[in-house]
Amino acid sequence: MSRRQAIKNIGLTLGATIIGIKGFSLISDNLYEYELNLEDVYKPVSNPLGRPLTAITCGAGSRGNVYGGYASAFPEQIRIIGVAEPIPLRNERYSVKHNISSENRFKTWEDVLARPRFADVIIITMPDNLHYKPCMKAMEMGYDVLLEKPMTQTEQECRDILAMTRKTGRIVAVCHVLRYSPYFIKMKELIRSGAIGDLISIQHMEPIQHIHMSHSYVRGNWHDSKKTTPIILAKSCHDLDILRWMVGCNCKSIIAIGDLKWFRKENAPEGSTDRCLNGCSVESTCPYSAIKIYTRNRNWTYVFDLPDEMAKQDDAILEYLRTTNYGRCVYRMENDQPDHYVTSIMFDKNITAAFSMEAFTSYGGRRTRVMGSMGDMVGDMEELNITDFRTDKTTKLVPKAEDVENYKNSGHGGGDWFLMRDFVQAVSNQDSKYLTSTIEQSIESHIMGFAAERSRKSGKIENVSL
Ligand SMILES: NC(=O)c1ccc[n+]([C@@H]2O[C@H](COP(=O)([O-])OP(=O)(O)OC[C@H]3O[C@@H](n4cnc5c(N)ncnc54)[C@H](O)[C@@H]3O)[C@@H](O)[C@H]2O)c1
Repeated sequence: MSRRQAIKNIGLTLGATIIGIKGFSLISDNLYEYELNLEDVYKPVSNPLGRPLTAITCGAGSRGNVYGGYASAFPEQIRIIGVAEPIPLRNERYSVKHNISSENRFKTWEDVLARPRFADVIIITMPDNLHYKPCMKAMEMGYDVLLEKPMTQTEQECRDILAMTRKTGRIVAVCHVLRYSPYFIKMKELIRSGAIGDLISIQHMEPIQHIHMSHSYVRGNWHDSKKTTPIILAKSCHDLDILRWMVGCNCKSIIAIGDLKWFRKENAPEGSTDRCLNGCSVESTCPYSAIKIYTRNRNWTYVFDLPDEMAKQDDAILEYLRTTNYGRCVYRMENDQPDHYVTSIMFDKNITAAFSMEAFTSYGGRRTRVMGSMGDMVGDMEELNITDFRTDKTTKLVPKAEDVENYKNSGHGGGDWFLMRDFVQAVSNQDSKYLTSTIEQSIESHIMGFAAERSRKSGKIENVSL
Protein backbone atom coordinates (compact mmCIF):
# COMPACT_ATOMS: atom_id res chain seq x y z
CA MET A 1 0.00 0.00 0.00
CA SER A 2 1.33 3.43 -0.91
CA ARG A 3 1.90 6.12 1.67
CA ARG A 4 -0.87 8.25 0.18
CA GLN A 5 -3.28 5.31 0.14
CA ALA A 6 -2.42 4.51 3.75
CA ILE A 7 -3.04 8.09 4.74
CA LYS A 8 -6.33 8.15 2.83
CA ASN A 9 -7.52 4.97 4.45
CA ILE A 10 -6.98 6.07 8.00
CA GLY A 11 -9.92 8.32 8.70
CA LEU A 12 -13.21 8.41 10.43
CA THR A 13 -16.63 9.13 8.95
CA LEU A 14 -19.86 9.46 10.83
CA GLY A 15 -23.56 9.29 10.20
CA ALA A 16 -26.46 10.94 12.07
CA THR A 17 -26.29 13.52 14.82
CA ILE A 18 -23.15 14.34 16.72
CA ILE A 19 -23.21 14.99 20.45
CA GLY A 20 -20.80 17.76 21.30
CA ILE A 21 -17.78 16.56 19.36
CA LYS A 22 -15.42 19.02 17.77
CA GLY A 23 -14.10 18.64 14.26
CA PHE A 24 -17.15 17.32 12.46
CA SER A 25 -18.53 18.93 9.34
CA LEU A 26 -21.98 18.36 7.93
CA ILE A 27 -21.75 16.98 4.43
CA SER A 28 -25.43 16.17 3.89
CA ASP A 29 -28.62 16.31 5.92
CA ASN A 30 -27.89 13.27 8.00
CA LEU A 31 -24.25 12.51 7.36
CA TYR A 32 -21.32 13.94 9.23
CA GLU A 33 -17.70 13.33 8.44
CA TYR A 34 -14.90 13.50 10.93
CA GLU A 35 -11.94 15.05 9.22
CA LEU A 36 -8.53 14.41 10.55
CA ASN A 37 -6.04 16.31 8.49
CA LEU A 38 -3.95 13.22 8.02
CA GLU A 39 -1.07 14.74 6.09
CA ASP A 40 -0.61 16.99 9.11
CA VAL A 41 -1.25 14.18 11.54
CA TYR A 42 1.65 12.21 10.15
CA LYS A 43 3.94 15.19 9.75
CA PRO A 44 6.05 15.90 12.85
CA VAL A 45 4.97 19.13 14.50
CA SER A 46 8.58 20.03 14.93
CA ASN A 47 11.87 18.31 14.46
CA PRO A 48 14.53 19.93 16.62
CA LEU A 49 17.06 17.34 15.45
CA GLY A 50 16.88 18.63 11.89
CA ARG A 51 17.35 15.07 10.62
CA PRO A 52 15.43 11.78 10.65
CA LEU A 53 15.71 9.66 13.79
CA THR A 54 17.91 6.61 13.43
CA ALA A 55 16.66 3.24 14.66
CA ILE A 56 17.85 -0.34 15.14
CA THR A 57 15.24 -3.09 14.94
CA CYS A 58 15.79 -6.12 17.18
CA GLY A 59 13.55 -8.82 15.74
CA ALA A 60 12.74 -8.51 12.02
CA GLY A 61 9.60 -10.65 12.17
CA SER A 62 6.02 -9.62 11.80
CA ARG A 63 5.96 -6.61 14.16
CA GLY A 64 9.44 -5.48 13.20
CA ASN A 65 8.19 -5.19 9.64
CA VAL A 66 5.05 -3.26 10.65
CA TYR A 67 7.13 -0.53 12.31
CA GLY A 68 9.80 -0.81 9.63
CA GLY A 69 7.04 -0.12 7.10
CA TYR A 70 6.47 3.27 8.70
CA ALA A 71 10.15 4.13 8.29
CA SER A 72 9.96 3.16 4.61
CA ALA A 73 6.89 5.35 4.12
CA PHE A 74 8.26 8.33 6.06
CA PRO A 75 12.04 8.34 5.63
CA GLU A 76 12.18 12.03 6.50
CA GLN A 77 11.02 11.06 10.02
CA ILE A 78 12.84 7.85 10.87
CA ARG A 79 15.37 5.56 9.20
CA ILE A 80 16.23 1.99 10.15
CA ILE A 81 20.02 1.83 10.12
CA GLY A 82 20.58 -1.46 11.97
CA VAL A 83 18.96 -4.86 12.50
CA ALA A 84 19.39 -7.88 14.77
CA GLU A 85 17.71 -11.01 13.48
CA PRO A 86 18.96 -14.61 13.75
CA ILE A 87 16.94 -15.98 10.81
CA PRO A 88 19.24 -15.28 7.84
CA LEU A 89 16.50 -14.79 5.22
CA ARG A 90 14.63 -12.31 7.44
CA ASN A 91 17.83 -10.48 8.25
CA GLU A 92 18.72 -10.25 4.57
CA ARG A 93 15.26 -9.12 3.43
CA TYR A 94 15.01 -6.47 6.15
CA SER A 95 18.53 -5.21 5.47
CA VAL A 96 17.87 -4.89 1.76
CA LYS A 97 14.52 -3.18 2.34
CA HIS A 98 16.11 -0.58 4.62
CA ASN A 99 19.46 -0.39 2.87
CA ILE A 100 21.31 -1.36 6.06
CA SER A 101 25.08 -1.48 5.73
CA SER A 102 26.79 -4.81 6.38
CA GLU A 103 28.51 -3.67 9.61
CA ASN A 104 25.08 -2.85 11.08
CA ARG A 105 23.50 -6.27 10.42
CA PHE A 106 23.57 -8.44 13.54
CA LYS A 107 22.44 -11.89 14.51
CA THR A 108 21.17 -11.12 18.02
CA TRP A 109 20.29 -8.15 20.22
CA GLU A 110 23.34 -8.90 22.37
CA ASP A 111 25.56 -8.18 19.35
CA VAL A 112 23.90 -4.79 18.87
CA LEU A 113 24.27 -3.74 22.49
CA ALA A 114 27.86 -4.95 22.65
CA ARG A 115 28.68 -1.99 20.37
CA PRO A 116 28.72 1.58 21.69
CA ARG A 117 25.45 3.39 20.97
CA PHE A 118 25.13 4.15 17.26
CA ALA A 119 21.47 5.18 16.81
CA ASP A 120 18.76 7.17 18.57
CA VAL A 121 16.31 4.36 19.26
CA ILE A 122 15.99 0.61 19.63
CA ILE A 123 12.83 -1.10 18.42
CA ILE A 124 12.24 -4.29 20.43
CA THR A 125 10.04 -6.65 18.43
CA MET A 126 11.43 -9.96 19.63
CA PRO A 127 9.51 -12.74 21.43
CA ASP A 128 8.04 -11.92 24.86
CA ASN A 129 10.94 -13.54 26.76
CA LEU A 130 13.42 -11.22 25.00
CA HIS A 131 12.06 -7.84 26.08
CA TYR A 132 13.36 -7.24 29.59
CA LYS A 133 17.13 -7.55 29.29
CA PRO A 134 17.54 -5.67 26.01
CA CYS A 135 15.18 -2.92 27.18
CA MET A 136 17.07 -2.41 30.46
CA LYS A 137 20.46 -2.46 28.75
CA ALA A 138 19.38 -0.18 25.91
CA MET A 139 18.15 2.45 28.38
CA GLU A 140 21.41 2.28 30.34
CA MET A 141 23.26 2.93 27.08
CA GLY A 142 21.17 6.01 26.31
CA TYR A 143 18.75 4.61 23.74
CA ASP A 144 15.08 5.50 23.70
CA VAL A 145 12.99 2.38 23.17
CA LEU A 146 9.89 1.24 21.31
CA LEU A 147 8.89 -1.85 23.30
CA GLU A 148 6.41 -4.44 22.10
CA LYS A 149 3.74 -5.62 24.48
CA PRO A 150 3.62 -7.44 26.78
CA MET A 151 6.44 -5.39 28.27
CA THR A 152 7.97 -8.32 30.17
CA GLN A 153 7.12 -11.68 31.67
CA THR A 154 6.80 -10.66 35.32
CA GLU A 155 5.34 -7.83 37.35
CA GLN A 156 8.68 -7.17 39.03
CA GLU A 157 10.40 -6.76 35.66
CA CYS A 158 7.74 -4.23 34.62
CA ARG A 159 8.47 -2.29 37.79
CA ASP A 160 12.22 -2.51 37.08
CA ILE A 161 11.72 -0.99 33.64
CA LEU A 162 9.64 1.81 35.13
CA ALA A 163 12.37 2.48 37.70
CA MET A 164 15.01 2.50 34.96
CA THR A 165 13.08 5.06 32.88
CA ARG A 166 12.96 7.30 35.96
CA LYS A 167 16.67 6.80 36.66
CA THR A 168 17.88 7.34 33.10
CA GLY A 169 15.18 9.74 31.83
CA ARG A 170 14.87 7.62 28.68
CA ILE A 171 11.60 7.37 26.74
CA VAL A 172 10.01 3.93 26.47
CA ALA A 173 6.86 3.62 24.38
CA VAL A 174 4.86 0.44 24.97
CA CYS A 175 3.15 -0.81 21.80
CA HIS A 176 -0.38 -0.53 23.17
CA VAL A 177 -1.40 0.36 19.65
CA LEU A 178 -5.17 0.46 20.27
CA ARG A 179 -4.66 3.69 22.21
CA TYR A 180 -3.61 5.26 18.92
CA SER A 181 -6.50 4.02 16.75
CA PRO A 182 -9.03 6.69 15.72
CA TYR A 183 -11.92 4.44 16.87
CA PHE A 184 -10.76 4.13 20.48
CA ILE A 185 -9.46 7.70 20.61
CA LYS A 186 -12.95 8.88 19.67
CA MET A 187 -14.58 6.58 22.23
CA LYS A 188 -12.37 7.97 24.97
CA GLU A 189 -12.96 11.54 23.83
CA LEU A 190 -16.73 10.99 24.00
CA ILE A 191 -16.53 9.59 27.53
CA ARG A 192 -14.31 12.45 28.64
CA SER A 193 -16.52 15.09 27.05
CA GLY A 194 -19.54 13.86 29.04
CA ALA A 195 -21.44 12.64 25.97
CA ILE A 196 -22.95 9.83 28.06
CA GLY A 197 -22.94 11.60 31.43
CA ASP A 198 -21.04 9.94 34.28
CA LEU A 199 -19.30 6.71 33.35
CA ILE A 200 -20.87 3.83 35.28
CA SER A 201 -19.57 0.62 33.70
CA ILE A 202 -18.06 -1.03 30.61
CA GLN A 203 -18.61 -4.44 29.08
CA HIS A 204 -15.82 -5.41 26.72
CA MET A 205 -15.21 -8.53 24.66
CA GLU A 206 -12.24 -9.73 22.67
CA PRO A 207 -13.46 -12.34 20.20
CA ILE A 208 -10.18 -13.91 19.18
CA GLN A 209 -11.82 -15.90 16.33
CA HIS A 210 -11.38 -19.67 16.44
CA ILE A 211 -8.77 -19.99 13.64
CA HIS A 212 -6.72 -17.12 15.06
CA MET A 213 -6.80 -18.88 18.43
CA SER A 214 -5.59 -22.14 16.92
CA HIS A 215 -2.89 -20.37 14.92
CA SER A 216 -1.36 -18.22 17.67
CA TYR A 217 -2.27 -19.77 21.02
CA VAL A 218 -2.56 -23.49 20.26
CA ARG A 219 0.02 -24.10 17.54
CA GLY A 220 1.89 -20.81 17.41
CA ASN A 221 4.47 -18.81 19.33
CA TRP A 222 2.24 -18.12 22.34
CA HIS A 223 0.91 -21.65 22.97
CA ASP A 224 2.97 -22.20 26.13
CA SER A 225 2.32 -19.54 28.77
CA LYS A 226 5.50 -20.44 30.67
CA LYS A 227 7.73 -19.70 27.69
CA THR A 228 5.89 -16.52 26.73
CA THR A 229 3.22 -14.89 28.91
CA PRO A 230 -0.28 -15.92 30.07
CA ILE A 231 -2.87 -15.17 27.39
CA ILE A 232 -4.40 -12.38 29.49
CA LEU A 233 -1.14 -10.52 28.81
CA ALA A 234 -0.05 -12.07 25.50
CA LYS A 235 -3.40 -11.34 23.87
CA SER A 236 -5.45 -9.20 26.17
CA CYS A 237 -3.11 -6.71 27.78
CA HIS A 238 -4.48 -4.51 24.97
CA ASP A 239 -7.99 -4.97 26.36
CA LEU A 240 -7.14 -4.38 30.01
CA ASP A 241 -5.16 -1.38 28.84
CA ILE A 242 -8.00 0.08 26.78
CA LEU A 243 -10.39 -0.39 29.71
CA ARG A 244 -7.98 1.32 32.12
CA TRP A 245 -7.47 4.13 29.59
CA MET A 246 -11.21 4.63 28.94
CA VAL A 247 -12.09 4.66 32.61
CA GLY A 248 -9.29 7.10 33.44
CA CYS A 249 -8.84 6.11 37.08
CA ASN A 250 -7.02 3.44 39.03
CA CYS A 251 -7.99 -0.21 39.21
CA LYS A 252 -8.76 -1.35 42.77
CA SER A 253 -9.37 -5.07 42.35
CA ILE A 254 -9.85 -7.79 39.78
CA ILE A 255 -11.21 -11.33 39.71
CA ALA A 256 -10.82 -13.84 36.89
CA ILE A 257 -12.05 -17.27 35.89
CA GLY A 258 -11.33 -19.27 32.76
CA ASP A 259 -9.70 -22.39 31.47
CA LEU A 260 -8.49 -24.41 28.52
CA LYS A 261 -11.59 -26.42 27.66
CA TRP A 262 -11.39 -27.55 24.06
CA PHE A 263 -7.86 -27.81 22.65
CA ARG A 264 -6.92 -30.86 24.72
CA LYS A 265 -5.81 -34.40 23.95
CA GLU A 266 -9.05 -35.96 25.19
CA ASN A 267 -10.97 -34.02 22.54
CA ALA A 268 -8.91 -35.37 19.62
CA PRO A 269 -11.38 -36.99 17.20
CA GLU A 270 -11.02 -40.67 16.43
CA GLY A 271 -8.96 -41.13 13.28
CA SER A 272 -6.98 -37.92 13.83
CA THR A 273 -3.20 -38.07 13.64
CA ASP A 274 -0.32 -36.12 15.20
CA ARG A 275 0.02 -34.04 12.01
CA CYS A 276 -2.74 -33.11 9.58
CA LEU A 277 -0.60 -34.38 6.71
CA ASN A 278 -0.12 -37.84 8.28
CA GLY A 279 -3.30 -39.38 6.94
CA CYS A 280 -5.79 -37.82 9.38
CA SER A 281 -9.18 -39.31 8.50
CA VAL A 282 -11.17 -36.29 9.74
CA GLU A 283 -9.01 -33.65 8.05
CA SER A 284 -11.62 -32.67 5.46
CA THR A 285 -14.19 -31.79 8.13
CA CYS A 286 -11.90 -30.39 10.82
CA PRO A 287 -12.22 -26.58 11.18
CA TYR A 288 -8.63 -26.49 12.39
CA SER A 289 -7.05 -28.52 9.59
CA ALA A 290 -3.63 -27.01 8.91
CA ILE A 291 -3.95 -28.08 5.28
CA LYS A 292 -7.19 -26.12 4.97
CA ILE A 293 -5.95 -23.02 6.83
CA TYR A 294 -2.47 -22.65 5.35
CA THR A 295 -2.67 -24.24 1.89
CA ARG A 296 -6.28 -24.31 0.69
CA ASN A 297 -7.27 -20.95 2.25
CA ARG A 298 -3.75 -19.47 2.31
CA ASN A 299 -4.45 -17.69 5.61
CA TRP A 300 -1.92 -16.79 8.31
CA THR A 301 1.00 -17.64 6.03
CA TYR A 302 2.81 -14.43 6.95
CA VAL A 303 4.60 -16.41 9.66
CA PHE A 304 6.38 -18.47 7.00
CA ASP A 305 9.44 -17.19 5.16
CA LEU A 306 8.27 -18.07 1.68
CA PRO A 307 10.35 -17.89 -1.48
CA ASP A 308 9.63 -14.94 -3.77
CA GLU A 309 8.78 -17.28 -6.65
CA MET A 310 5.06 -18.07 -6.42
CA ALA A 311 5.55 -21.47 -8.02
CA LYS A 312 7.71 -22.60 -5.12
CA GLN A 313 5.50 -21.32 -2.33
CA ASP A 314 3.09 -24.26 -2.03
CA ASP A 315 5.96 -26.69 -1.52
CA ALA A 316 7.52 -24.39 1.05
CA ILE A 317 4.26 -24.20 3.02
CA LEU A 318 3.89 -27.98 2.96
CA GLU A 319 7.44 -28.30 4.29
CA TYR A 320 6.52 -25.99 7.19
CA LEU A 321 3.45 -28.17 7.87
CA ARG A 322 5.67 -31.28 7.90
CA THR A 323 8.30 -29.84 10.21
CA THR A 324 6.86 -27.12 12.49
CA ASN A 325 4.07 -26.83 15.05
CA TYR A 326 1.88 -25.21 12.40
CA GLY A 327 1.26 -28.67 10.87
CA ARG A 328 0.42 -30.40 14.15
CA CYS A 329 -2.99 -31.53 15.37
CA VAL A 330 -4.55 -28.81 17.55
CA TYR A 331 -5.62 -31.48 20.04
CA ARG A 332 -2.13 -32.86 20.52
CA MET A 333 -0.03 -29.78 21.28
CA GLU A 334 1.69 -28.84 24.54
CA ASN A 335 -0.58 -25.78 24.81
CA ASP A 336 -1.83 -24.44 28.12
CA GLN A 337 -3.45 -21.09 27.26
CA PRO A 338 -7.11 -20.76 28.29
CA ASP A 339 -9.61 -20.57 25.44
CA HIS A 340 -12.18 -18.63 27.49
CA TYR A 341 -11.30 -16.11 30.15
CA VAL A 342 -13.65 -13.82 32.06
CA THR A 343 -12.65 -10.97 34.38
CA SER A 344 -14.55 -8.50 36.54
CA ILE A 345 -12.79 -5.30 37.47
CA MET A 346 -13.49 -2.64 40.10
CA PHE A 347 -12.03 0.82 39.46
CA ASP A 348 -11.96 3.91 41.66
CA LYS A 349 -15.17 6.00 41.71
CA ASN A 350 -17.12 2.69 41.81
CA ILE A 351 -16.80 2.18 38.06
CA THR A 352 -16.90 -1.48 37.03
CA ALA A 353 -15.84 -3.38 33.93
CA ALA A 354 -16.51 -6.89 32.70
CA PHE A 355 -14.11 -8.36 30.18
CA SER A 356 -14.41 -11.62 28.22
CA MET A 357 -11.76 -13.13 25.99
CA GLU A 358 -13.41 -15.73 23.78
CA ALA A 359 -11.70 -18.12 21.37
CA PHE A 360 -14.78 -19.68 19.84
CA THR A 361 -16.20 -17.04 17.57
CA SER A 362 -16.59 -16.87 13.80
CA TYR A 363 -15.60 -13.19 13.91
CA GLY A 364 -12.84 -10.97 15.28
CA GLY A 365 -13.02 -7.30 16.23
CA ARG A 366 -13.38 -6.07 19.77
CA ARG A 367 -16.91 -5.36 21.05
CA THR A 368 -17.49 -2.68 23.65
CA ARG A 369 -20.59 -1.42 25.49
CA VAL A 370 -20.13 1.68 27.60
CA MET A 371 -22.84 2.59 30.08
CA GLY A 372 -23.21 6.15 31.40
CA SER A 373 -25.75 8.00 33.52
CA MET A 374 -27.04 10.00 30.52
CA GLY A 375 -26.38 7.66 27.61
CA ASP A 376 -24.60 4.62 26.30
CA MET A 377 -22.30 3.47 23.50
CA VAL A 378 -22.17 0.21 21.61
CA GLY A 379 -19.26 -0.45 19.28
CA ASP A 380 -17.52 -3.25 17.39
CA MET A 381 -14.65 -1.30 15.75
CA GLU A 382 -16.71 -1.22 12.54
CA GLU A 383 -19.12 1.30 13.98
CA LEU A 384 -19.92 3.03 17.24
CA ASN A 385 -23.50 3.89 18.21
CA ILE A 386 -24.05 6.50 20.89
CA THR A 387 -27.46 7.10 22.42
CA ASP A 388 -28.19 10.21 24.46
CA PHE A 389 -30.93 9.46 27.01
CA ARG A 390 -31.72 13.20 27.25
CA THR A 391 -32.70 13.56 23.59
CA ASP A 392 -33.32 9.91 22.73
CA LYS A 393 -31.08 10.42 19.70
CA THR A 394 -28.66 7.82 18.46
CA THR A 395 -25.48 8.80 16.66
CA LYS A 396 -23.61 6.40 14.44
CA LEU A 397 -19.86 6.78 13.98
CA VAL A 398 -18.23 4.76 11.27
CA PRO A 399 -14.45 4.68 11.48
CA LYS A 400 -12.66 3.98 8.25
CA ALA A 401 -9.28 2.95 9.49
CA GLU A 402 -7.61 0.26 7.51
CA ASP A 403 -4.52 -1.41 8.82
CA VAL A 404 -1.43 -0.72 6.91
CA GLU A 405 1.26 -2.44 4.94
CA ASN A 406 1.62 -6.20 5.22
CA TYR A 407 -0.35 -6.56 8.42
CA LYS A 408 -3.86 -5.78 7.31
CA ASN A 409 -5.57 -8.23 9.67
CA SER A 410 -4.00 -6.89 12.82
CA GLY A 411 -7.33 -5.49 13.96
CA HIS A 412 -5.55 -2.45 15.36
CA GLY A 413 -7.68 0.11 13.55
CA GLY A 414 -4.69 1.99 12.15
CA GLY A 415 -3.04 2.33 15.57
CA ASP A 416 0.28 0.77 14.53
CA TRP A 417 1.43 3.69 12.43
CA PHE A 418 -0.14 6.38 14.63
CA LEU A 419 1.96 4.98 17.48
CA MET A 420 5.07 5.31 15.31
CA ARG A 421 4.12 8.87 14.41
CA ASP A 422 3.84 9.81 18.10
CA PHE A 423 6.98 7.90 19.06
CA VAL A 424 8.98 9.85 16.47
CA GLN A 425 7.56 13.08 17.88
CA ALA A 426 8.36 12.12 21.46
CA VAL A 427 11.95 11.14 20.73
CA SER A 428 12.71 14.03 18.34
CA ASN A 429 11.49 16.47 20.96
CA GLN A 430 12.76 14.41 23.92
CA ASP A 431 9.31 14.79 25.43
CA SER A 432 7.14 11.82 26.35
CA LYS A 433 4.00 13.98 26.43
CA TYR A 434 3.48 13.10 22.76
CA LEU A 435 2.78 9.50 23.80
CA THR A 436 -0.25 7.97 25.49
CA SER A 437 1.51 4.66 26.24
CA THR A 438 4.66 5.43 28.18
CA ILE A 439 5.69 2.93 30.84
CA GLU A 440 4.09 5.19 33.47
CA GLN A 441 0.79 5.09 31.56
CA SER A 442 0.95 1.43 30.57
CA ILE A 443 2.27 -0.36 33.61
CA GLU A 444 -1.02 -0.49 35.50
CA SER A 445 -2.78 -2.54 32.85
CA HIS A 446 0.10 -5.03 32.92
CA ILE A 447 -0.17 -5.24 36.71
CA MET A 448 -3.90 -5.85 36.24
CA GLY A 449 -3.04 -8.73 33.87
CA PHE A 450 -0.68 -10.38 36.34
CA ALA A 451 -3.28 -9.94 39.11
CA ALA A 452 -5.99 -11.46 36.88
CA GLU A 453 -3.84 -14.51 36.26
CA ARG A 454 -3.15 -14.94 39.97
CA SER A 455 -6.88 -14.65 40.61
CA ARG A 456 -7.71 -17.21 37.91
CA LYS A 457 -5.37 -19.67 39.55
CA SER A 458 -6.29 -18.98 43.19
CA GLY A 459 -9.99 -18.27 42.79
CA LYS A 460 -9.60 -15.16 44.94
CA ILE A 461 -10.16 -11.45 44.34
CA GLU A 462 -6.81 -9.72 43.83
CA ASN A 463 -6.21 -6.17 44.99
CA VAL A 464 -4.31 -4.06 42.49
CA SER A 465 -1.89 -1.38 43.57
CA LEU A 466 0.89 0.40 41.77
N1 LIG B 1 1.31 -4.78 19.57
C1 LIG B 1 0.65 -5.85 19.13
O1 LIG B 1 -0.53 -5.79 18.89
C2 LIG B 1 1.35 -7.15 18.90
C3 LIG B 1 0.86 -8.07 17.98
C4 LIG B 1 1.54 -9.26 17.80
C5 LIG B 1 2.67 -9.52 18.54
N2 LIG B 1 3.12 -8.62 19.46
C6 LIG B 1 4.34 -8.85 20.24
O2 LIG B 1 5.44 -8.46 19.42
C7 LIG B 1 6.57 -9.30 19.69
C8 LIG B 1 7.02 -9.92 18.38
O3 LIG B 1 5.96 -10.67 17.82
P1 LIG B 1 5.98 -11.08 16.28
O4 LIG B 1 4.61 -11.55 15.96
O5 LIG B 1 6.60 -10.03 15.46
O6 LIG B 1 6.93 -12.35 16.34
P2 LIG B 1 7.88 -12.90 15.17
O7 LIG B 1 8.25 -14.26 15.57
O8 LIG B 1 7.24 -12.68 13.86
O9 LIG B 1 9.16 -11.94 15.26
C9 LIG B 1 10.10 -12.01 16.28
C10 LIG B 1 11.48 -12.01 15.64
O10 LIG B 1 12.48 -11.93 16.66
C11 LIG B 1 13.59 -12.71 16.21
N3 LIG B 1 14.50 -13.04 17.30
C12 LIG B 1 14.46 -14.15 18.12
N4 LIG B 1 15.52 -14.13 18.95
C13 LIG B 1 16.23 -13.01 18.69
C14 LIG B 1 17.43 -12.46 19.21
N5 LIG B 1 18.11 -13.07 20.20
N6 LIG B 1 17.89 -11.30 18.69
C15 LIG B 1 17.22 -10.66 17.68
N7 LIG B 1 16.07 -11.16 17.13
C16 LIG B 1 15.59 -12.32 17.63
C17 LIG B 1 12.90 -13.92 15.60
O11 LIG B 1 13.79 -14.65 14.76
C18 LIG B 1 11.75 -13.30 14.86
O12 LIG B 1 12.04 -13.02 13.52
C19 LIG B 1 6.11 -10.29 20.73
O13 LIG B 1 6.48 -9.87 22.01
C20 LIG B 1 4.60 -10.28 20.59
O14 LIG B 1 3.92 -10.66 21.78
C21 LIG B 1 2.48 -7.45 19.64
